[in-house]
Amino acid sequence: MKILVTGGAGYIGSHTCVELLNAGHEVIVLDNLSNSSEKSLDRVREIAGKDLVFYKGDIRDRACLEKIFSQDGIDAVIHFAGLKAVGESVEKPWEYYENNIAGTLTLVDVMRQNGCKNIIFSSSSTVYGTPEEIPVTEQTPKGTCTNPYGWTKSMLEQILSDIQKADPQWNVILLRYFNPIGAHPSGKIGENPNGIPNNLMPYITQVAVGKLEKLGVFGDDYDTPDGTGVRDYIHVVDLAIGHVAALRKVQENAGLKVYNLGTGVGYSVLDIVKNFEEATGQKIPYEIKPRRAGDIAANYADASLAKEEMGWEAQFGIREMCADSWRWQSNNPNGYE
Ligand code: NAD
Ligand code: UD1
Repeated sequence: MKILVTGGAGYIGSHTCVELLNAGHEVIVLDNLSNSSEKSLDRVREIAGKDLVFYKGDIRDRACLEKIFSQDGIDAVIHFAGLKAVGESVEKPWEYYENNIAGTLTLVDVMRQNGCKNIIFSSSSTVYGTPEEIPVTEQTPKGTCTNPYGWTKSMLEQILSDIQKADPQWNVILLRYFNPIGAHPSGKIGENPNGIPNNLMPYITQVAVGKLEKLGVFGDDYDTPDGTGVRDYIHVVDLAIGHVAALRKVQENAGLKVYNLGTGVGYSVLDIVKNFEEATGQKIPYEIKPRRAGDIAANYADASLAKEEMGWEAQFGIREMCADSWRWQSNNPNGYE
């Protein structure tokens, strides 16, 4: 199939481009490079040994989208483009709603005008808020988000679901990612955050490479086995392969589908530190800090629906996630620069 990948130069997008090319799809990337480098796409070409088409442009730019859809005859869109920094979204809610929601509305409008009604959307486990039960299934009620970023995901799920219900020709696959970490085993592409990382794994790898002094562990008094927060970390390559599986649901005309993409296993912050140290031989000094506002104690997925319906299941374990994150960081201490 001919796939438009919005946000394809980013962390999850670049890994997904590799897997799409490996699976024989044609790939067209649209990215405004607001949080990424075009160099990631050169690396994608190198890893896959195949070419892709790149448009530098914005999902809010209707003329740009119209050009792509009229020239390229897109079969389906995998929609990663969006702003994703939780803290920044609290400071700049307008920018987040405008980029993520207005951008998606423009994209979807141009899609339907061009007869392309297949979309796979990057949602997040954040839509569950503070879940009433774990592991969370797709039936677990959505909750109250603690920040505008989370609300853009929750609202876009609703918007895309309503559009599909009104016009059943649409195939809308909502993928709720748990915590993506790791990098392509080649060490050529990976996560490249701006400034000091907010998320756990990039923080750990920057401590290991000597850019940061020590990890702050946000709280050790949660109701979890060791008191630190528990999450479902998933290797980004497994996540990428999940999108190739979701395209098969599109080809089957599955309509509206929602899937958790996680491993089903929860690890605490200290489990991650220990596994990272064992997988890489790097010591990670840490200190216990107060809880971070908006954090929940524990969250992990019941990912059995994705296995049942898409035949998809995560393959990589926590050691590989740690080793691959480290290979990327140590080979590319300054990211793509
Ligand atoms: P990323 O920032 O690396 O990738 C997003 C890409 O979208 C970037 O390359 C950015 O330049 C581009 N972009 C942003 N706004 C755009 C616009 N208006 N037009 C064109 N391009 C635009 O982030 P990621 O980690 O790869 O995340 C991809 C998607 O998955 C995002 O929608 C994110 O919210 C979602 N998600 C990520 C995580 C995570 O932990 N990384 C978890 C759940 C969901
Ligand atoms: C966060 C976002 C979530 C987003 C996800 C992926 C919040 C409240 N949630 O999830 O919306 O979808 O990132 O981008 O920001 N930790 C530390 N020290 C650190 C960093 C993290 O102890 O320096 C702990 C956290 O308290 C948490 C765990 O590590 O228990 C994972 O944190 P993180 O990687 O930021 O992911 P989430 O908080 O799960």
